[in-house]
Amino acid sequence: MNPSSRLSPPVLVSRSRARVPAAYSDDIEQLLISAPRIRSRVTEMARVIAEDYHGKRLVVVALLNGTILFLAYLIRHFEFPLSMDLIGVSSYRGGTSSGELEYTKRLKLDLRDQHVLVVDDILDTGKTLCAVKAELARQHPASLRTCVLLDKPDGRKTDCEADYVGFIVPHLFVVGYGLDYDERYRNLPFVGVLRPHVYGPGSAP
Ligand code: IMP
Ligand code: MG
Repeated sequence: MNPSSRLSPPVLVSRSRARVPAAYSDDIEQLLISAPRIRSRVTEMARVIAEDYHGKRLVVVALLNGTILFLAYLIRHFEFPLSMDLIGVSSYRGGTSSGELEYTKRLKLDLRDQHVLVVDDILDTGKTLCAVKAELARQHPASLRTCVLLDKPDGRKTDCEADYVGFIVPHLFVVGYGLDYDERYRNLPFVGVLRPHVYGPGSAP
């Protein structure tokens, strides 16, 4: 079974016709993916994932903190028993360029012989998802697939790809719907592009 064969391919999102709500317009330059568009795509992803795992017991492993909104909307569509756990990972983006990961929260569940779906917010270089997949694979799950809301293929520095992708976005720093800049903007119900003045000239995130 090709995992995402029944999921329509993600389209490259370049712009939304929706206006940035006034409350956010000082910080957000452009609204990229509106809330209704996210809801409809995530609903479609959930339907395909549910079909792919039909009759199997699924273990969802989500990465903190960026997946919170995506995860909550995705899993509420699954009308079958599942187990869920969260894993905390942070990368030393600013500090070192090694791409090393620090685990801030380990898994509690035993993944041996389980069908595991890893959920993350965005796939950029791929270092995070690659490292997490390698770590989880050591527990010998029955299957291991990945699901991301957003994909920035132009940022890729590994050969890591996700099995289920919501949207392809340009190589820009995006926030909202769980994604942050400096722990802000996670609550935005849409995905938008940050204004450069927020992170300051010459210090792009
Ligand atoms: P990767 O390891 O480079 O693929 O990066 C994955 C992680 O970096 C994601 O889980 C996010 O936490 C963060 N990230 C990458 N791009 C963005 C972005 O545009 N906005 C917010 N966070 C991002
Ligand atoms: Mg993240």
